[in-house]
Amino acid sequence: MSVFAIRSICCIGAGYVGGPTMAVIADRCPDLQVTVVDLNEQRIAAWNDRDLSQLPVYEPGLDAVVGRARGRNLTFSTAVDEAIANADMVFISVNTPTKTKGLGAGQASDLRWVEACARQVAKVAKGHTIVVEKSTLPVRTAQAIKQILAAAHGGDDHARSFSVLSNPEFLAEGTAIGDLEAPDRVLIGGEEPAAIDALASVYAHWVPQEKILRTNLWSSELSKLTANAFLAQRISSINSIAAFCEATGADVREVARAIGSDSRIGAKFLQAGPGFGGSCFQKDILNLVYLCRHFGLPEVADYWESVVALNTWQQHRISRLVVQKLFGTVTGKRLAVLGFAFKADTNDTREAPAIRICRDLLEEGAQLAIHDPKVDPEQIARDLHLPASAAPDPAAGPSRAALSGDGTWWQGADEAATIAGADAVLILTEWQQYRQLDWTVLAPLLRQPAWIFDARSVVDPAVVAAAGLKLWRVGDGGVESEA
Ligand code: NAD
Ligand code: UGA
Repeated sequence: MSVFAIRSICCIGAGYVGGPTMAVIADRCPDLQVTVVDLNEQRIAAWNDRDLSQLPVYEPGLDAVVGRARGRNLTFSTAVDEAIANADMVFISVNTPTKTKGLGAGQASDLRWVEACARQVAKVAKGHTIVVEKSTLPVRTAQAIKQILAAAHGGDDHARSFSVLSNPEFLAEGTAIGDLEAPDRVLIGGEEPAAIDALASVYAHWVPQEKILRTNLWSSELSKLTANAFLAQRISSINSIAAFCEATGADVREVARAIGSDSRIGAKFLQAGPGFGGSCFQKDILNLVYLCRHFGLPEVADYWESVVALNTWQQHRISRLVVQKLFGTVTGKRLAVLGFAFKADTNDTREAPAIRICRDLLEEGAQLAIHDPKVDPEQIARDLHLPASAAPDPAAGPSRAALSGDGTWWQGADEAATIAGADAVLILTEWQQYRQLDWTVLAPLLRQPAWIFDARSVVDPAVVAAAGLKLWRVGDGGVESEA
């Protein structure tokens, strides 16, 4: 039994992490009151929508968890101060994007939202409050949070006190509920054993003791950046070998299987593709790079920076090879893009490889028909910095935009409508439904000679060849040499 009894939890930030994480805590700990707060009223309204298909985050299984806990011991609210004041434990789960201007722009994390939370907690918390860093943060951020909190309970305010813990989140989007319900580990960094015990007792409702790791604050903060850096490094490593496979006739799937069978290497995260996307890998590595330079380790910084550079190169490589294979020009040509989310089973497009690849092709004057089962077309418009246009009618001849060389895009209603009239199909997200497409039926919809560019290894090369289509498949030197 912990010295600090936890009855009420507040989480600041109702995003991809705060929402699902707190929903699982509330589901697994019916004895705790969990309140998730956010300044974004629209987001909170969506979390409170009676229709569970309208939750702001799409995650398989999330609707069921929210459905069980919401209204019982899980609340979504914009009343930030009230929730903090009532809480024994406050999680900070706000965004920590890369800074876009000022010192460290392009690399360092922008901590303005985290600092605002610390100041808000300092202002309104009551009694003893355990403040938990859930956001991914630069090493030693806890020091700044502690200083802000210490300034608040100075003077004669003896009734208030604080502990600070680091408890980074390792969930991946698309599998968040499974990752939260059966985590490989829960990491708690801190200095006060009683505070660590209090947080461990929350997780102990469903996580076995041996999976709850305790470290000092700085190891915990740094472990999160390191885990993401190692995972991203594997993807850049396999993508570098994919390019080499294409040049030599090897097949990256066979190479991945061969090396992944070595238990020291392991089979996971060896899927070659259009490069990693998502809100965190690039941001967290760049943050690590910035910190290494700051601490006088330029060689270490360069090493990790190359992981991001290889990833960017892989994305431009794919758009370049599309142009090259389509006789060196895509101006005015219709190209179908299947998948816009950064991975399957999410509606998240942050840093999606599709963004960079589509922007390159629009720059070349392509007419893109884009399909994604979960991404909102308004989000695609924001990501591409271009409003959607109407799908041109092929019977009416080439559109004005096509003739003037302007890139445009529109949303395809379904896969067949997206593909119709295109010279090529690019598969950029591995949605299950794209694996089931019948290329023999779809091939006649394309303008010949037509290409499939499969950046996610979802098609069967034999089926595509039988349908009379040309194929580029990531890391497949075999199909390349026959084409
Ligand atoms: P997000 O942008 O989806 O959500 C953050 C939310 O915080 C937003 O809704 C924003 O309105 C709210 N917010 C910001 N400042 C606030 C304030 N002062 N008061 C109240 N609300 C405020 O971000 P996310 O994807 O949930 O990521 C959050 C953190 O978790 C980041 O540090 C990220 O690196 C880390 N992380 C993310 C993932 C992931 O899969 N997305 C996984 C592990 C860790
Ligand atoms: C990743 C980590 O896996 C989580 O542990 C971490 O908590 C999270 O980042 C975070 O800090 O935000 P996420 O980005 O949601 O999770 O998804 P991943 O499954 O890691 O995929 C990231 C990107 O890498 C995707 O674009 C995916 O398609 C790509 N990827 C992944 C590959 O190209 N090949 C692979 O073998 C695996």
